[in-house]
Amino acid sequence: MAASSCLLAVTGVALLAVVALCAGVGAAQLCEDYYDCTCPDAYDIVRRELIQAHKSDTRIFASLIRLHFHDCFVQGCDASLLLDSVPGMQSEKESPPNNNSARGFPVVDAVKAALEDACPGVVSCADLLALAAEISVELSGGPGWGVLLGRLDGKTSDFNGSLNLPAPTDNLTVLQDKFHKLKLNDVDLVALSGGHTFGRVQCQFVTDRLYNFSGTNRPDPTLDATYRAFLSRRCPPNGPQAALNNLDPTTPDTFDNHYYTNIEVNRGFLQSDQELKSSPLARGTTAPIVDRFATSQAAFFTSFAQSMIHMGNISPLTDPSRGGVRTNCRKAN
Ligand code: HEM
Ligand SMILES: *[C@@H]1O[C@H](CO)[C@@H](O)[C@H](O)[C@H]1NC(C)=O
Ligand SMILES: *[C@@H]1O[C@H](CO)[C@@H](O)[C@H](O)[C@H]1NC(C)=O
Ligand SMILES: *[C@@H]1O[C@H](CO)[C@@H](O)[C@H](O)[C@H]1NC(C)=O
Ligand SMILES: *[C@@H]1O[C@H](CO)[C@@H](O)[C@H](O)[C@H]1NC(C)=O
Repeated sequence: MAASSCLLAVTGVALLAVVALCAGVGAAQLCEDYYDCTCPDAYDIVRRELIQAHKSDTRIFASLIRLHFHDCFVQGCDASLLLDSVPGMQSEKESPPNNNSARGFPVVDAVKAALEDACPGVVSCADLLALAAEISVELSGGPGWGVLLGRLDGKTSDFNGSLNLPAPTDNLTVLQDKFHKLKLNDVDLVALSGGHTFGRVQCQFVTDRLYNFSGTNRPDPTLDATYRAFLSRRCPPNGPQAALNNLDPTTPDTFDNHYYTNIEVNRGFLQSDQELKSSPLARGTTAPIVDRFATSQAAFFTSFAQSMIHMGNISPLTDPSRGGVRTNCRKAN
């Protein structure tokens, strides 16, 4: 929205509280310019806070995009993941896919505090996560995209719903089902899995592939032998299951297409990663997409940006009777 139309909006309502809206009032629709009038510096504030946080935590960019993913896949992108448990409502953040795994919550608090300082009660926690995801990718060398905004924050956290998040032991069929249910297709599945081009992963998620794949007492046959030897040294059978590894051993903190070049040589970390190429059902479905992204980083970047917008559009909460802008991301107002 142009500055002049902001002025018009303000004078037009005689300095009553300016409510941010997307064109098509009431429609469950997001837009890029949602905060242009009410918090024009929102993007820059988030970016500044993330750069600050990254100085003491190189992993934070990866951790933040994962929060957006785990938020959007459960009840839509409504910051349900950020609520703390209260009597009668256990938070998603304590569910097995998140407990001792999802991280970055104190940084979310710091970003929220900075946004509240500048524009009290305006920027939702769900939008904060969407902005943080884009900025994190861009600052790591990946593509940028116009983040769609205008989500409200919900009032509930869905512990049970988060039990259905994609799991590292899911086969291709199960992964496809979980994505298709949210109207995300195979290109979205393969592109978004490319989020594993940075960040860390605990030994517990590869132990079965190293020593006892699907109860066979043998390693996963689709795991490259040299990479398996490397991971076995880092994750010995009785070693600490929480020990950390790089999801992408080649460029651990860079957002590039090495996730796919790794998979091409059987060096996907998780079973769910390697399935995209090695499942017998991948032929003619996801495998050609992996091949395309391994060959062309530009093709990956274009698809990733589009798929992040698709993911950010899962069930947007825009009805003010069902949600609002939290002032503290951990608590429903
Ligand atoms: C396709 C299904 C997916 C599965 C099964 C999956 C599973 C996992 C697992 C098990 C971890 C390691 C957690 C830990 O060690 O504590 C992880 C980390 C991560 N995931 Fe996924 N994931 C999936 C999709 C995605 C998507 C769609 C994104 C983002 C677009 C994403 C981004 C990340 C990032 C960045 C990390 C590292 C986080 C950090 O270092 O804090 N993942 N994922
Ligand atoms: C989450 O992990 C902690 C250990 O850090 C454990 O004490 C707690 O029981 C776990 N919560 C759930 C709901 O499993
Ligand atoms: C979650 O699932 C458990 C076990 O199926 C059930 O007992 C509980 O009522 C569910 N909680 C909610 C809030 O739906
Ligand atoms: C995938 O996993 C599901 C659930 O465990 C199972 O029912 C199905 O048979 C598996 N599909 C293949 C092709 O292995
Ligand atoms: C391998 O996995 C199977 C099935 O989960 C289990 O019964 C067996 O005890 C495991 N073997 C070892 C050596 O842990």
